Amino acid sequence: MDPAVSVPAYVRSPSVTFLSSISMDRHLARYDVAGSVAHAEMLARVGLLPAEESAHLVAGLRAIAREIAAGSFPWREELEDVHTNVEVRLGELVGAVAGKLHTGRSRNDQVALDERLYLRAEVVDLGGRLHTLLAALLARADSEAEIVMPGYTHLQRAQPITLGHYWLAHHARFERDLERLLASAARADVSPLGAGALAGSTLPLDPRWTAARLGFSRPFSNSLDAVSDRDPFAELAFDLALLLVHASALAEEIVVFASAEFGFLERSGSLGAGSSQMPQKHNPDVAELIRAKASRAIGDLTSELVLLKGIPLAYDRDLQEDKPPVVDAVATARAVLDALLTLVPALRFDRSRLDAATRHPDLYVTDRAESLVRQGVAFRAAHERLSVEPAEEGPIDPRRSVALRSSFGGPAPESVRRQLEAARSRLESLTDSLSSLGRKTELVEELLKEQIR
Ligand code: ARG
Repeated sequence: MDPAVSVPAYVRSPSVTFLSSISMDRHLARYDVAGSVAHAEMLARVGLLPAEESAHLVAGLRAIAREIAAGSFPWREELEDVHTNVEVRLGELVGAVAGKLHTGRSRNDQVALDERLYLRAEVVDLGGRLHTLLAALLARADSEAEIVMPGYTHLQRAQPITLGHYWLAHHARFERDLERLLASAARADVSPLGAGALAGSTLPLDPRWTAARLGFSRPFSNSLDAVSDRDPFAELAFDLALLLVHASALAEEIVVFASAEFGFLERSGSLGAGSSQMPQKHNPDVAELIRAKASRAIGDLTSELVLLKGIPLAYDRDLQEDKPPVVDAVATARAVLDALLTLVPALRFDRSRLDAATRHPDLYVTDRAESLVRQGVAFRAAHERLSVEPAEEGPIDPRRSVALRSSFGGPAPESVRRQLEAARSRLESLTDSLSSLGRKTELVEELLKEQIR
């Protein structure tokens, strides 16, 4: 390190590498600088800083944002974290006035703010990918609305359904995942800036103004809670764990459907790779890895919750460890969504295998019981009779059977069309929610770029 750079006394420690959070803080750097811009502007508005000093700070901070974006920011591990790195760099760029930036602020409210801005941007990114996946699932459901397949319970053939119905079931899970992400982002839409270390400030700060400047709906209401609340990260970790659990369950079906025993899926390079020893093999590696990734996200959620369970109010340094699990879950979810986005449209069903599987008489025993009910037989009596009678071997018409299953939310093509229509209009309102969240993240990007205000 350049000996001319003065290291603030609070970070002079013999075990800097242990204390350092730089590797994680890189993910927060842009947001940290944006928060500082808003803070410096606010200090001038409330009269704590002359306008020209504030402008000087803001210009320096924007130069730092450019360095971060270009990858030329001189990270120094001995400065522990992003906050001190930015402040020291600011001193190099604008001189002694940099020492005024931290007026009325603590790294505690600062890092809580950074995390919320990070969360918002990641929800926009992951939500966008999830949205594309939802559209891909609807497209498949639409084009395969009429194709009959066996439906399972206990992985035993149960009743006939349609592929359209099947895809819509997966769509429903992923749709809830997107709703959950948006709801978590809405709950995280609170700015902690102004809470200070834990007990606010004696200075006339304006947390409402900085909140609005950064695109938050409101500032915190209790300073102790503001610096210690990690619910947003815990929720995000849960949302992503459940998303990956859903992806994993779908992947499991793909693995099973691709086996010779089922043979529902045609061999395809998009499913995976061959074996290094067995020339005949085509393994569903992509689906298997999607299935596996859920374990990481579940581990990340567990780490996050265990970390939080014994933290006394307000800030404790343990909270620094809240970042690795979330950053990992975000990266894992992104990779899985991208894999699904390639995989889902590429799957090819073997229609003849599906057709053969749907011709098994076991699938139609409930139909027969229901036709006895229509003739006035009590359902329980019909059930008993059919459980001992051998399955009928007469002509089976899967399409007819499935067409009759037109009850609410059922597999009949007609019912699938109704579900599709409703899902499409919900997708539109999800598009709107995502774009309004997107506009808030753009606000931060603009704040980092503005030259003159
Ligand atoms: N790197 C710290 C974190 O991630 C920043 C806050 C440090 N605050 C403190 N009082 N040491 O939590």
